[in-house]
Amino acid sequence: MDDDGPVIETKGLRKEFPGLVAVDSLDLRVARGTLYGLIGPNGSGKTTAIKVIVGLMRASAGEARVLGERVPLRTNRHRLGYMPQDIAIYPDLTVRENLEFFAGLYSIPKPRIGSRTEEVLKVVDLLDRKDGLVSQLSGGMRHRVSLACALVHDPEVLFLDEPTVGIDPELRVGFWRFFQDLKSKGKTIVLTTHYMDEAVRCDVVGMMRGGRLIAEGTPSSLMTQTGRGNLEDAFLEFAGRVVA
Ligand SMILES: Nc1ncnc2c1ncn2[C@@H]1O[C@H](COP(=O)(O)OP(=O)(O)OP(=O)(O)O)[C@@H](O)[C@H]1O
Ligand SMILES: [Mg+2]
Repeated sequence: MDDDGPVIETKGLRKEFPGLVAVDSLDLRVARGTLYGLIGPNGSGKTTAIKVIVGLMRASAGEARVLGERVPLRTNRHRLGYMPQDIAIYPDLTVRENLEFFAGLYSIPKPRIGSRTEEVLKVVDLLDRKDGLVSQLSGGMRHRVSLACALVHDPEVLFLDEPTVGIDPELRVGFWRFFQDLKSKGKTIVLTTHYMDEAVRCDVVGMMRGGRLIAEGTPSSLMTQTGRGNLEDAFLEFAGRVVA
């Protein structure tokens, strides 16, 4: 049943914190093989929306489905990957031990863990640091380990919350090549970014403000609709329309 409909779907999703609505009436539909970019200012609700969709937080109202299953996922949990904005890896373990830990969580068969660990470490260019402690890595390198941990079980649906923050320009290019490669293999990726040169490379961009999706479309359609030559100005234009 999950092969026909959207891979990710939310209907009227809402998340409240005391005195604050962080996500409001969020309706998302993301088709298989889409690279979807969620953009918006600090505090606009991107991370909260993702946390609810991956099942880390319970929605206050509305519903979210991934691969046709209502979250939190049980049957399809191993088909989902999530890289949190705040790095969640173990500093006292080596890079390899972290990857093996996450691989174990997703029940990757033991003989496969070693080769899969090598594969993802190659992607994030950390093969030569695999036996070093995470606590001794630079901030950007830790970020790269966190991405590797999200990828280790080869998920079909990936949520990457600011995957390229703190990553040097050369590796950032490599990451984007890798995202495109995943997409060409039919994976579905939702990522957040504050870099407009990254947003413009997404198939679909969702613009969030104040917990709401204020605009959504291909980068070129968002620019055409506003008559603006870049996504930053297009965002400001949409934001102004909401206020007006
Ligand atoms: N656990 C929490 N308890 C209370 N408020 C929270 C909690 N988590 C997030 N918020 C609030 O919800 C709002 C949305 O935060 P969120 O982290 O989703 O924004 P964001 O769009 O990801 O921002 P950024 O670009 O800075 O990462 C903010 O006002 C934030 O302070
Ligand atoms: Mg965030």
